[in-house]
Amino acid sequence: MLAITLDVNGQVERLELDARTSLLDALREHLHLSGTKKGCDHGQCGACTVLVDGRRINSCLTLAVMHEGDRVVTIEGVGDREDLDAMQRAFVECDAFQCGYCTPGQICSAIGMLAEVRAGWPSHVTADVASPRTALTDAEIRERMSGNICRCAAYPNIVAAIHSVTGKGPR
Ligand code: FES
Ligand code: FES
Repeated sequence: MLAITLDVNGQVERLELDARTSLLDALREHLHLSGTKKGCDHGQCGACTVLVDGRRINSCLTLAVMHEGDRVVTIEGVGDREDLDAMQRAFVECDAFQCGYCTPGQICSAIGMLAEVRAGWPSHVTADVASPRTALTDAEIRERMSGNICRCAAYPNIVAAIHSVTGKGPR
């Protein structure tokens, strides 16, 4: 067992954990932040996506002890009922979910994805990888969000929600 300190949603959390505990299990089972979902537990579905220092990661594929000193944000820290984040509002307004199981991961992933686009990171479908600006087409969104599986197939509305946050219509 190891004593570790995590910064989760702006709160300092002190935990005593088996060194093998994934960040996902630390969040769900030890901090009782059940918004982050466990779909596959091996990096296939994206349901466990959280933001670490602003970057999206699969929390099932990383150990909690590796994140001392990092700023972890889960869906609970993205916004709250009275003050939803723009991406949360867009998902509601665009009806971008059905059962909702994948939704926390989709929203965290979409926020991280837009930061990657702003930073000029190309994707597999970017035509000009040397260009510092990438047009956020439907194809770009679908490719960049392809790590987040939705069993309810709410994909068209997820794409619409992301477009609505960027202020552009679908292309
Ligand atoms: Fe982590 Fe599926 S639970 S990718
Ligand atoms: Fe049901 Fe995505 S809304 S899995």
